[in-house]
Amino acid sequence: MANSRYEYVKSFEAHDALLPSTWIVIRIDGCHFHRFSDVHEFEKPNDENALKLMNSCALAMFEQFPDIVFAYGVSDEYSFVLKKSSKFYERRSSKILSLSVSFFSSTYVMKWKDYFPEKSLQCTPYFDGRVICYPSQEILRDYLSWRQVDCHINNQYNTCFWMLVDSGKSKREAQDILKGTQTSEKNELLYEKFGINYNMIPAIFRKGSCIYREMVDEIVKYNEAGTPIRRPRKKVVLDHCDIIGPEFWNEHPTILLDK
Ligand code: GTP
Ligand code: MG
Repeated sequence: MANSRYEYVKSFEAHDALLPSTWIVIRIDGCHFHRFSDVHEFEKPNDENALKLMNSCALAMFEQFPDIVFAYGVSDEYSFVLKKSSKFYERRSSKILSLSVSFFSSTYVMKWKDYFPEKSLQCTPYFDGRVICYPSQEILRDYLSWRQVDCHINNQYNTCFWMLVDSGKSKREAQDILKGTQTSEKNELLYEKFGINYNMIPAIFRKGSCIYREMVDEIVKYNEAGTPIRRPRKKVVLDHCDIIGPEFWNEHPTILLDK
């Protein structure tokens, strides 16, 4: 087919293929969610339904994009790891990012009523996103650890802050009390002032959320004698576990195994 004389404009398009043989991480983050959470009166410091809605959107991403092998979410953000050998959209950065952000945002709106049946959406939830390539498992795991450490630091601080405010301190006083305190001091404050054992706070708040696939033996049918016939199947799992130490990765060696 003859090219039109206008087709040369395509040569202006940037080639944005991501580095081959690297782990692709897409991180999506809610835009101005400080305001969004106020407008919709999210519970402080953690709104379980808001977090479950984020998890539900992330699970939908897993269904939609098979190259995603792991996801980690906290607060208004979610990170998705695509396998190293992924050829998704020829690894074109703008395609991968725009698809992910638009799919996630639309799913958030679509599922809103399932998690907040009593509240209508008052403003548009929208997300920014970035794509990062990590060359080794070690650096990829450091990336995920960084996000989980952030989850811990923010959650512990916010838990103390809102307990102090609820007990009658002003926001300024609460800030001053917490200024410069270490992890152990915050735990002591929670325990001594409010009788809260930090480790008893739900894991979804303390650890964030992880999504991955796991091999499970599923009953596929029963034979004539009524004996169940099992076959190994990959199942998507949502958990709130530690991903900083080696235990999780030792127990799930296939997640980052890229053939
Ligand atoms: P940008 O991402 O820069 O647009 O700003 P942001 O306002 O979204 O802030 P950021 O992403 O740094 O942090 C997320 C914010 O969302 C938190 O500071 C909270 O204000 C709000 N948020 C997220 N999850 C919850 C929740 O479960 N409960 C409440 N009350 N607020 C939440
Ligand atoms: Mg945000």
